[in-house]
Parts: sequence; C-alpha cells; structure tokens
Amino acid sequence: MANASIAVLISGRGSNLKSLIDACADDGFPAEISLVISNRPKAPGLKHAETAGIRQAVIDHRDFETREEFDAALDERLQAEGVDFVCLAGFMRLLSDGFVDEWRGRLINIHPSLLPAFRGLNVQERTLDAGVKIAGCTVHFVSPELDAGPIIGQAAVPVLPTDNVSSLSSRILEQEHKLYPQCLRLVVEGKARISGAVVQYDAEIQCVGALLNPPTD
Ligand code: GAR
Repeated sequence: MANASIAVLISGRGSNLKSLIDACADDGFPAEISLVISNRPKAPGLKHAETAGIRQAVIDHRDFETREEFDAALDERLQAEGVDFVCLAGFMRLLSDGFVDEWRGRLINIHPSLLPAFRGLNVQERTLDAGVKIAGCTVHFVSPELDAGPIIGQAAVPVLPTDNVSSLSSRILEQEHKLYPQCLRLVVEGKARISGAVVQYDAEIQCVGALLNPPTD
C-alpha cells in the first residue's frame, strides 16, 4: 500500500516537525510528509523542511482579514496537494469550525498536557502552579473546541520539585517527539480509530506499567 501523504502545519521552532520527518525517513514507516506549511514567514522550523528536501509553503495569516479567509486558503492548498492527513505541530492558530469539519478524522494535534487538563496557552506554567505531580502530552484528533477531540495517545512524565517551566517543557517535549510519530503510525495503519467521542485501539496494542510520583523504593 502507498504511504499516506501528510501535511505538517507549524508556527515556530518545529521540533515536532523534525521528529515526524525523522520517523518518516525510517523504512517501514507508513507515511511521508508531502508539504510543510507555516503561518509565519520566519518560523525557524521551516529549516527542517528545507534540510529534508520537503516542499514548504508560507500562508501568512496577516494577509487575510478573517480567520475564515485564512482557513479557506489553507484548505485550498491542502486539497490541491491531496494529502491524507494534516498534523498540527506547534501550529498556534485557532481553526474555524468549517475547516475542522472538513478535515475531521484527518486532522491531528499535539498538546503539552495530559488533556483534558490544561487546555490553551502557558500550559507548563499552569501545570506547575497547580502542583500536579505528573504532567505529559497528548496527541488527539482535532474537534472545533480548543485542545479537545478524541485522544489518540498520551505520554506521562513526573513533575520534579526543582522544575521550572523550561525544565518541565523539555521533559515533556522529549516524550512529544516519541508520541507523535507513534500515534500517527497507529492512525495511518488504521489501528487507532475514532469511535464516537473516543479513539479505540486494536486489541493487539496493550500497555502495562505505571508511573508513580513520588516513586516507591
Ligand atoms: C509543543 O510543545 C506543542 O505540544 C505545543 O507547542 C510546542 C511546539 O513546539 N503545542 C501547543 O501548545 C498546541 N496547543 P515545536 O514547534 O518545537 O514542535
């Protein structure tokens, strides 16, 4: 079967884009990135696409009067490309309901919290303020509500007493880079499927073990 064609949308650094590029470079990974789109002309992450020889496009949101017009331009480009899935990777724009509906089930996002906790911005700061002892990240299908939609996968990390926003962000990001490719693989292979408001896995996918914080001896 042909590899699934992916578009990755970014706004900034692009480290998750890089992890997806690296995963797609592996033999046997069932997807390839056809196009990277940034809504910011100077997004540092565009260099990852350039290095990997992947086509890139800038659709600058400032060139459009309304969110709907920007989303229509985005949609037009994605449809013209004929991509199968769209991965948001640090794409910091709210998408309109129409766009989300059009791409429902084919639009995936990563967020640096264990959703449904800590939706929105300044996630790590709010995580530390809340004093939770386990944090993490979530890959999910996008629904019109912000940072919501059927959860494909999550990774958990401990929050340490010495943590600040930077150290916690780095620990979560390290897991993001493993989780996103793994979730994309499951979706593309049809092993993680939307069922109502949730995602169900094939029976063969089983997880064991637990993360305790504080740990036991
Ligand atoms: C990542 O931590 C990602 O989870 C987050 O932005 C960062 C982008 O980093 N996304 C969100 O907060 C979406 N709500 P990157 O540009 O290095 O991939």
